[in-house]
Amino acid sequence: MLSLLLAQGADAALDARVEALLRQMTVEEKIALCHGDSKFTTAAIPRLGIERRWLSDGPHGVREDVGPDTWNPAGHTDDFATYMPVNLCLAATWDPALAREYGATIGQEARARGKHIMLGPGVNILRTPLNGRNFEYFGEDPFLAGRMAVGYIQGEQGEGVASCVKHFAGNEQETRRNAVDVRMDERTLREIYLPPFRAAVQEGGAMTVMAAYNRFRGAYCSENEELLNTILKGEWGFRGLVMSDWGGVHSTDGAVRHGLDLEMGSNGAYDDWFLAKPFRDGVRNGTYPVALLDDKARRNLRVILATQHAERGGSLNTAAHQATARRVAEAGIVLLKNDHSTLPLKADAVRSIAVIGDNAVRLTARGGGSAGIKAFYEVTPLQGLLGRVGSSVDVTFSQGYRQPERRPQGRADVAGVRATATQAPPAADPKLIDRAVRAAKAADVAIVVGGLYHGRGGDDEGADRTDLRLPFGQDELIRRVSAANKRTVVVLLSGGPVEMEPWLAKVPAVVQAWYPGMEGGAALASILFGDVNPSGKLPYSSPKRLADSPAHALGAYPGEATEEYKEGLLVGYRWFDTKGVEPLFPFGYGLSYTTFTYANPRLEGDTVRVDVTNSGSRDGAEVVQLYVEPVAPRLPRPTKELKGFAKVALKAGETKTVAIPLDARAFAFYDPDRKAWLAEAGAYRLLVGPSSRDIRARLETRRTETVTVP
Ligand code: BGC
Repeated sequence: MLSLLLAQGADAALDARVEALLRQMTVEEKIALCHGDSKFTTAAIPRLGIERRWLSDGPHGVREDVGPDTWNPAGHTDDFATYMPVNLCLAATWDPALAREYGATIGQEARARGKHIMLGPGVNILRTPLNGRNFEYFGEDPFLAGRMAVGYIQGEQGEGVASCVKHFAGNEQETRRNAVDVRMDERTLREIYLPPFRAAVQEGGAMTVMAAYNRFRGAYCSENEELLNTILKGEWGFRGLVMSDWGGVHSTDGAVRHGLDLEMGSNGAYDDWFLAKPFRDGVRNGTYPVALLDDKARRNLRVILATQHAERGGSLNTAAHQATARRVAEAGIVLLKNDHSTLPLKADAVRSIAVIGDNAVRLTARGGGSAGIKAFYEVTPLQGLLGRVGSSVDVTFSQGYRQPERRPQGRADVAGVRATATQAPPAADPKLIDRAVRAAKAADVAIVVGGLYHGRGGDDEGADRTDLRLPFGQDELIRRVSAANKRTVVVLLSGGPVEMEPWLAKVPAVVQAWYPGMEGGAALASILFGDVNPSGKLPYSSPKRLADSPAHALGAYPGEATEEYKEGLLVGYRWFDTKGVEPLFPFGYGLSYTTFTYANPRLEGDTVRVDVTNSGSRDGAEVVQLYVEPVAPRLPRPTKELKGFAKVALKAGETKTVAIPLDARAFAFYDPDRKAWLAEAGAYRLLVGPSSRDIRARLETRRTETVTVP
């Protein structure tokens, strides 16, 4: 594939075309490649056959067009898109092949919409459950995030569109995102925060990278010598382009010298941007060597040539796209609790259902900030349930709690993010709760659809949540509804963990449904009624309370001007397991309507094999997870780390041998003294199971020599 070869530097023909073009270009033309000429474009150079280049958000589909000099919608009628489940839901599928289809879907729609570069996926790590953008990322584990990003990017770039992996690096919070200086030790950087980016670039072949807003070790990420020049372009051999986040450039000198190739989203006249006239003048008067400009122009040209096509191609909202959106939701929804086989519901035995909760009727596509989508349609949870049961079941709806309308307010910041919902969040409404309780009492089953929302205090760009609790009086609502109806199912729409202790023991069934995209309601109904057997697994650890979560336990979040990642390597389950803290639900956890047994684990060469049997009476899918535990490491290491996984579909009664390959990298850690990855000689345990805390098989292996791993 052209695009993959491009990033790895193997496409000599493309390089030759780039050089031929470069030789014909004036300084002005090269400069024009290095900065925007509207919110989401760079200038065409018709004389050389270079088209206007279009960029677009984002990770969950092709964003609505804004227009040219404003964040306000352009008012087009042809800028709808398929709204995919959020990336956190995709991560919960643990299925890189599905990520590839997901990426391909967006790639096809980007082609149809005339976009060349898609601004996603985001691979920042879930360090705090409160990050307002966790819903856009792949969770807390660098290995899982890397696998999903690689699938996504290969699928998207396979359609001839460039992916932009973001936000590089250390953008794990929205609080003070434009200025905070992120600090962490070298091992933490190398072992936790960089691996998904490295996988995206080296294995996925991502053609573009977006520098984060924040500072890292003192310097803004858009002018960060260490991140951009030393690591990304130097050590990793990245040959694509680095763009700024929108409005994330702070100086001409920093951006020119320290690795930025494309400036986007700055304020003021386009010609006055940092990489426009000031850069040109600097080249003219000898401040900046022409070679620096040529390097940036070359990187831009490579991406332009790889994404400029004779035919526009692509397709929008096809039946296949809708089916992919639905399959991702069905594979990513996680069944957290299911006492007394409350689920699946039996369509012929249930006569009445009380659907309760604002999220049952709320549209989510447009929310959340830059990841919002103008969806062709969106099946809400209530619509999905109604569609599933038809007229055979009596379905009532009761709002139960009220969340603020997502009304943008105030001035937009440099990235176009406006403060939403500045009014005080509504508290529990006793009248709504009373009505919901009456509805629950009168029905066979109560389904409360709650969780968070895309607005302030929820899953929203530009601000973090302020606590872990469910907002708008939902704890009381769920307590009262579950007291009124023993068969209460709680469905949570959210982009991360929420506190459940106030009601969890009283509720027999809980489903984590993320923001499941435009087919989400239909997917949810198929899970609740058992047409689809749930197979999603949490891509993060759910803490019992916020203070159990590492950055919070250490008082390390939110810092002030500096954010010190004091928990170091111990992010997510690495913390819970190493410190012996009991999570509410562990990383990798998720139930099924069937059961799986593990037998005959063995290590054959470099491959772990285990026989997995579906020992229940329904077809299903299991995510087999492989963790590596060093027995006596020289440097402190997390007790165990995910190093492989495989999702396997099994018919009732069926057995399959699952094979998970391991290479030296799976045993390696970053040695800051040697500045190298080392897989040390010594004993290791290989732990296999359906979650990080449910280990069904243990193997031991000994590595006889210490090797460095590239
Ligand atoms: C976000 C990016 C996004 C860009 C363009 C910024 O506010 O941080 O993720 O791609 O805007 O909309």
